[in-house]
Amino acid sequence: EKTERESMLIVSSYANEYFQYQLWNTDEGRSVGLGYLRQRGISDEMIRKFGLGYNPEGWGAFTKAAQEKGYKKEFLVKTGLTIENEKGLFDRFRARVMFPVFDLAGKVIAFGGRTMTTDKKISKYLNSPESEIYHKSKTLYGIFLAKKSIVQQDRCILVEGYTDVISFHAKGIENVVASSGTSLTIEQIRLIRRLTPNVTIIYDGDAAGIKASLRGIDLVLEEGLNVRVLLLPDGEDPDSFARSHTPQDLADFIANNETDFINFKTKLLLGTAGDDPVERARLITDIVRSIAKIPDNIVRSVYVRETAHQLDVEERVLYTEIAKVRLKNE
Ligand code: CTP
Ligand code: MN
Ligand code: MN
Ligand code: MN
Ligand code: MN
Repeated sequence: EKTERESMLIVSSYANEYFQYQLWNTDEGRSVGLGYLRQRGISDEMIRKFGLGYNPEGWGAFTKAAQEKGYKKEFLVKTGLTIENEKGLFDRFRARVMFPVFDLAGKVIAFGGRTMTTDKKISKYLNSPESEIYHKSKTLYGIFLAKKSIVQQDRCILVEGYTDVISFHAKGIENVVASSGTSLTIEQIRLIRRLTPNVTIIYDGDAAGIKASLRGIDLVLEEGLNVRVLLLPDGEDPDSFARSHTPQDLADFIANNETDFINFKTKLLLGTAGDDPVERARLITDIVRSIAKIPDNIVRSVYVRETAHQLDVEERVLYTEIAKVRLKNE
């Protein structure tokens, strides 16, 4: 007798095969789905590597096929692949290209579906709901394909979305995972910590991306990991940036532009603070708050020295401030 979890994983795996079959072997899938992915510059090799698929237009093609194959309604509904209401059963994902989400062991636990329309009323991505097999806050997109490289490189690059991960792989950078829209969680950071203590955040070069980077820095520091940040040119995301650069140029750009979080915050905040002493004090307080989150004394002292140097303040002053913040947080 199978457990509920096992049955749900089997249904998800079938769905993954079904969506890929639709993409490669049907007229609609090839012209609409495959056409869309290729026109975005995603190679057939990457489409296969990431198991991308397609679910057709209409109401219930997948659900019907699954039921004909003998998959039980119960598990189709529990995985969220099928939605049941008073009118009957229909597919959650319709007319979308499908991104399967794999767990650390390589099992399909969820899907993200992207619309190919530009209609603003239709949400760009639709994701599987929380379920017994899918806990969004504990999942990192790309982790299965990245884990070996993360260990080898002893570093994990963190990006926002599905296509960011795929485009980095296409350029030979494989130690990359996405937090997938959910603001980064502690559970996601702990998943990374099992593989490496070093994280580089490369979020989108827009206001939302910068805000998420600042929040990510503090969370990563709190979990005792080392964090670097790379700010992309305005309006670029890792996907668009990778696509317009050669593998060598991308690797060089990252190596030359990723900076420690103090540098990142300093540059970002000095831009607005200038020489104004009040603003400068605020900047120092902000950085001190981040340093205060670092659990390890020695690591903290290294960052204090760096900050004192970069901002030209005495270490003693910084230690006094850190002690105050830490006391308040206890
Ligand atoms: N996301 C989501 N639902 C949305 C928008 C975004 O789940 N309505 C998640 C997706 O995982 C997406 C990530 O957040 O990949 C980052 O969002 P965004 O930068 O807006 O999308 P891109 O990844 O750049 O997608 P695309 O290039 O296809 O437009
Ligand atoms: Mn559970
Ligand atoms: Mn974004
Ligand atoms: Mn983006
Ligand atoms: Mn994008």
